[in-house]
Amino acid sequence: MCGIVGYIGTEVATPLLLDSLKKLEYRGYDSAGIAVLAHEGLVVRKAKGRLTKLEQLLASEAIDGTVGIGHTRWATHGEPSDINSHPHTDVSGNIAIVHNGIIENHAKLRDWLEKHGVTFRSQTDSEVIAHLIDFHYNGDLLQAVRETMARIEGSYALGVLSEDAPDRIIAARKDSPLVIGYGKTGNYIASDVPALLAHTREVTYIDDYELAVLFADHVEFYTEDGDPVQKEICHIEWDVEAAEKGGYEHFMLKEMHEQPKALTDTIRPRIIRDESSGLRNVDMHEVKDFERWKAEDSRIFIVACGTAWHAGIVGKYIFEQFARIPVEVDIASEFRYRNPLCGKNDIFIIISQSGETADTLAAMRLAKRSGAEIVAITNVVGSTLSREADSVLYTWAGPEIAVASTKAFTTQLSCLYLIALKLGNIRGVISHQQLDEHLKEIERIPAAAAKIFDMEDELQRFAARHFNKTKVFFMGRLFDYAISMESALKLKEISYTHSEAFAAGELKHGPIALVDTSTLVVAFCTQRALFEKMDSNMKEVKARGATVLAITFDDVDTFDGTADETLKLPVVLDQFSPMLSIIPCQLYAYYCSILRGNDPDKPRNLAKSVTVE
Ligand code: G6P
Repeated sequence: MCGIVGYIGTEVATPLLLDSLKKLEYRGYDSAGIAVLAHEGLVVRKAKGRLTKLEQLLASEAIDGTVGIGHTRWATHGEPSDINSHPHTDVSGNIAIVHNGIIENHAKLRDWLEKHGVTFRSQTDSEVIAHLIDFHYNGDLLQAVRETMARIEGSYALGVLSEDAPDRIIAARKDSPLVIGYGKTGNYIASDVPALLAHTREVTYIDDYELAVLFADHVEFYTEDGDPVQKEICHIEWDVEAAEKGGYEHFMLKEMHEQPKALTDTIRPRIIRDESSGLRNVDMHEVKDFERWKAEDSRIFIVACGTAWHAGIVGKYIFEQFARIPVEVDIASEFRYRNPLCGKNDIFIIISQSGETADTLAAMRLAKRSGAEIVAITNVVGSTLSREADSVLYTWAGPEIAVASTKAFTTQLSCLYLIALKLGNIRGVISHQQLDEHLKEIERIPAAAAKIFDMEDELQRFAARHFNKTKVFFMGRLFDYAISMESALKLKEISYTHSEAFAAGELKHGPIALVDTSTLVVAFCTQRALFEKMDSNMKEVKARGATVLAITFDDVDTFDGTADETLKLPVVLDQFSPMLSIIPCQLYAYYCSILRGNDPDKPRNLAKSVTVE
């Protein structure tokens, strides 16, 4: 996730900016840069790579300015490169900006600016901001930023400098974090508190649609309409380590909580309205030659490892339900050695959070050699997978640091839904009206995901009662079976509990022999047509002494008399439940891990990115 910093005061800005940027390294980044108002004017220095690269670049020159902004970039639009690094400037090089977030309407704005004579230097969505501010600048920088805010859609935290207003930094935010710090020698902006702690513990959090004007000796706050606002100053008690985790005890907990935003960022830019009908549609421009997927003989292969493979299993159900197209799902390490039957009419969806998993890359290359079309779903711009695939759909989850994957999984699912719905419409399986209704339902998912965190205390208590169970089985049917697999993996990975997933109908064919009074069975029940079957399965395991937790929807009481405990999810269409039903099990695994005295962020024997076979 990009990090922004800024300083205005009496000290030389460059070392302070570099120092603050270092404190944001934990957010993940692939390039860094600063802009300083020096006596010769605006100086911008930026480089792809680690911060040491930028430091080397700056080592040979003394930039004397006391006003500056800085940025660590986690690539989203445009690969990691010197040019795509921030800060970005307007055409004349008078105005510099740093941005964290995604400008959803950047393509439209870029076209418009190009028609007005602007030549773009980078592939980023952010560069439009510098040009728009210049376009609206009429002697009042604050006004120009406000007018720019009115034209950009999406999320942003912004830092803005201009040669014409050297006594100030303008900051603004919507849906991306931004905090102001009050230091002894001047004032600061930062994406996150760790960047400020060496200088101050007195901060103000900017809210959505607010702006701040930082001077060396004071800070003013405004609404988007330009009205002044009074803001509270908060005292930060956290230490640096806690601050990096945003106050959460672990990265995993933070990342689970980030899911509503990650889902919004991944879904929202891809849902558009058809101009003529006003109905929702999916913008699939990232997938080259999407029409080709219509072919009668098309098959989809989904290949991945670990959690990403589980997303692929849900994907199979999604594509079969919504697009009526045959899907094969494979574990990459199996696929690559099984002499697979695939060819140029096939479409491969390769899923990988990191885009660097060795087996996944090998499977992708094998499929590519057979002439198949490769579509990657990945979280890392510039990763090997993103560079070698024919098309890339990014999950906009931001860096995932905890080993156990959470927000990457739910955002991978959201991408699969969007492709499948679009394909279903193109193939004539679902009408445009139905597509609109399904997309409306998908738009509701982030808020429904946020609601699940209201149950966190309940889940924590549940974990306290059951964390020492030696056997935990997850069962379900269809989508719920896929989520059972991911739930069992989460629990294994971080709590080291022996957990397994079963297709509920398979219970009688063996697994039920394992059930006894020491067994916890989590039964996912989100497929309404199969409720009776699930109820019977629950009764079967209960009769053998198991404790049963049912996870179902808010409006369902079918299992209240059968299960020992019931957890209720916000109501959504059955087929969309996986993006929600996994969340309680992520939380459950997390609290079991804590209760067992483990470090959930760094589980034993596991690596975040498996780049060897
Ligand atoms: C490792 C990680 C898992 C991840 C898997 C695939 O095993 O611990 O969390 O699901 O690799 O990683 P990828 O980056 O390809 O999604």
